[in-house]
Amino acid sequence: MKRIGMLTSGGDCQALNAAMRGVVKCLSCSGEDVEIYGFLDGYKGLIYGDFRMLTGHDFAGILTKGGTILGSSRTPFKLMREPDENGLDKVEAMKQNYYKLKLDCLVILGGNGTHKSANMLREEGLNVITLPKTIDNDLWGTDMTFGFQSAVNIATDCIDCIHTTASSHGRIFIVEVMGHKVGWLTLNAGMAGGADIILIPEIPYDIDKVIKAINEREARGSRFTIMAVAEGAISKEDAKLSKKEYKEKMKNYTYPSVSYEIADKIQKKSGKEVRVTVPGHTQRGGSPCPYDRVFATRLGAEAGKLILKGEYGFMVGYKNREVVKVPLEEVAGKLKMVSPDATIVKEAKMVGISFGD
Ligand code: F6P
Repeated sequence: MKRIGMLTSGGDCQALNAAMRGVVKCLSCSGEDVEIYGFLDGYKGLIYGDFRMLTGHDFAGILTKGGTILGSSRTPFKLMREPDENGLDKVEAMKQNYYKLKLDCLVILGGNGTHKSANMLREEGLNVITLPKTIDNDLWGTDMTFGFQSAVNIATDCIDCIHTTASSHGRIFIVEVMGHKVGWLTLNAGMAGGADIILIPEIPYDIDKVIKAINEREARGSRFTIMAVAEGAISKEDAKLSKKEYKEKMKNYTYPSVSYEIADKIQKKSGKEVRVTVPGHTQRGGSPCPYDRVFATRLGAEAGKLILKGEYGFMVGYKNREVVKVPLEEVAGKLKMVSPDATIVKEAKMVGISFGD
């Protein structure tokens, strides 16, 4: 008999359900007797003992369902060691619930912050297996996270739709893409959508170079320009500021987001009108794409295999087209960013995409 606790933490994304289904199906197909404790709303459920007993039926028909059947929430890692408003020690509470329910292990699905907390629980002596989810694809130790390809599809669809309007009206458009502090999503959706300019956090932009790229397009007879801008895009000047200076500057920031600032700068410097579209959370929504369904099922199945073997303390990731187990301590606290020297960036430049650098 295996007693498994499961939770999904942080921002949701597509294929969370598919991954959990993969774990549970693998365990039940093995013939092993399993009890599943689904903790609700991320780490909160584990802290406050808020869980639901789940059976195979709960995982039937959810392969294609977006969101998470367990609910999710953000419980910042930096607050984990701070008592809650009633003085409860969150880490101790999680351990007590784990031991009270006599769990064999926790299966934790999440992104960067979630992995830091999962690693902390491992250090505290709990058996933990994690699965890498996030539309940002910024988790260290895996080439791919589930949710990412689905989000690329949605952001690309958005750019495609804007393309037709931009070409009809001969306009400059910015599509602002999620991705937090990294540019994977913007880079991939931008290339897939045929964006002319792609701005990502890893390659700080020079607004004059951005305007130059627009002017050059116009000189070549192009009626419109599509820009894919990451929500974390940053100018060369701002990138030079220290963390403290940048924080200070942001106190007086009046734009709704970075794209509006870039649009305003272009307009003021060149007189050209720029429209902004922000698909926002739609990028995390809806049904997972086929790639993510297969990918999450594979990772889930491999997590099930590790549980059956009693191998804990790993994230199930993907390296060089193989599903691999990566020690949690190697993953926690590290960001996987786009290298400005990556071949994909060079290839994008070879086909004329400007990064404003
Ligand atoms: O990490 C996923 C993500 O969607 C990021 O791309 C984005 O910056 C952030 O979450 C938004 O978070 P929230 O849903 O809490 O607004």
